[in-house]
Amino acid sequence: MAKVITLGFLGCGNIGGGVYHLLTDMHGEILKRENIDIRIKSALVKSIAEARSDVPKDIMTEHADEVLKDPDIDIICEFMGGEQPAASFMQQALENGKTVVTANKMALALNWHRLQAAAVGHHAGLYYEASVGGVIPVIRSLTVSLNADEIDQVMGIVNGTTNYILTQMSQQGRSYTDVLAEAQQLGLAEPNPTADVEGYDAAYKLSILSSIAFHTRVTYAKIHREGITGITPDDIAYGREMGYTLKLLAIGKRSGNSIEVRVHPTFLPNEHPLARVDGSLNAIYIHGKYCQDMMLQGRGAGDKPTASAICGDILYAACHMDTPTVPSFDNTAETDPAISFTDNWNCRYFVRLDAADTPGVLGSVASAFSARSISIASLLQRPSKEKGRAQIILITHEANEQAVQETISSLNAELVDVKSMIRVEC
Ligand SMILES: NC(=O)c1ccc[n+]([C@@H]2O[C@H](COP(=O)([O-])OP(=O)(O)OC[C@H]3O[C@@H](n4cnc5c(N)ncnc54)[C@H](OP(=O)(O)O)[C@@H]3O)[C@@H](O)[C@H]2O)c1
Repeated sequence: MAKVITLGFLGCGNIGGGVYHLLTDMHGEILKRENIDIRIKSALVKSIAEARSDVPKDIMTEHADEVLKDPDIDIICEFMGGEQPAASFMQQALENGKTVVTANKMALALNWHRLQAAAVGHHAGLYYEASVGGVIPVIRSLTVSLNADEIDQVMGIVNGTTNYILTQMSQQGRSYTDVLAEAQQLGLAEPNPTADVEGYDAAYKLSILSSIAFHTRVTYAKIHREGITGITPDDIAYGREMGYTLKLLAIGKRSGNSIEVRVHPTFLPNEHPLARVDGSLNAIYIHGKYCQDMMLQGRGAGDKPTASAICGDILYAACHMDTPTVPSFDNTAETDPAISFTDNWNCRYFVRLDAADTPGVLGSVASAFSARSISIASLLQRPSKEKGRAQIILITHEANEQAVQETISSLNAELVDVKSMIRVEC
């Protein structure tokens, strides 16, 4: 006799539709493999009349309680997006003892402590593989496969929209605004692209990823965040000339009880595995004491790949209804006070200056860096578009963030205009 598992969806747009189709397509196969009969009973949408997916309308409802309070439903699958009401709906479901599967990084990153407490307190499961990196099985890799290791670094391309934009800018020398407009036309960027291009989306994902990797709650508020809107084709072209590729990276590093978490445009050496991850692909590079270097790569978005990860969670939850699993760390509202966060990290820096083309300017720039013990690893000088000016592009050896910021501020603004400062990882 097959085990019947009944699902209720909160949201049935792009992802809800993808999950519906995968489960319909794979129903017989899942029954054969796992002896589990998965049924979808209801799906909450804002408006049935304007429903955007081709899921049968007879399972759709506009009333959340018809999903949340239905005693037949075993697993609530949340695909609404946004923080609220998604987070409070998930909390209600968990408090009613229902297992929750979600793809919502924002609601999870901001409310994880409440959701986990509700899950533990009511013996329910909480699963969120698709919240980071779409189909890439990074959550399960960290919580299960690498659970005995000590992870000291996670570094990811976790936003497909910005990776697409930077790839097009790099390959075609086009401007940010030009490529963004094209990405919007292709449906690869939202009409309001702020969450992606300003790094918010990547920061929510980094909060989840680094919490799991470092076994402590890394709240969203601790993450330093910068987007890609100020990046120019010149930055990318000079970086390439010096052997580097530009990516928007979500970076988490732990050393003892000190953690740094940051999202910003980053130059990587061309030979770094993440430098070759192009277009809308996502990838997460992990370093640990025992596993050493590894990288996971795949589709970070799209209904089919995301549905694959979500349905993996649904099936896992269905197989573990009596023994739901949650992460091992103490999932508190604030980070453990024993952990310190630094915004004064060490890395290498790419600095592009537009300078007066007069004797002594290059020397004064070099002196300003050396006054703070920052040594320059490579340097380019190129004619500027403006007569009497020159572009000076330098990459430092490893240096301290604060020292580099101070050096840049100390440069004589009458002679030197600082065009960009981009961090470099190796
Ligand atoms: N798209 C991707 O590739 C991708 C990848 C990974 C993770 N995710 C995550 O998956 C989630 C869903 O994304 P999506 O692309 O499927 O979004 P979507 O296409 O906009 O679908 C959202 C669904 O939720 C419903 N909804 C939203 N707010 C509601 C409310 N207040 N009351 C009732 N129904 C409401 C919408 O109803 P209507 O149809 O009536 O508007 C729609 O059915 C998000 O958290 C997203 O971050 C998406």
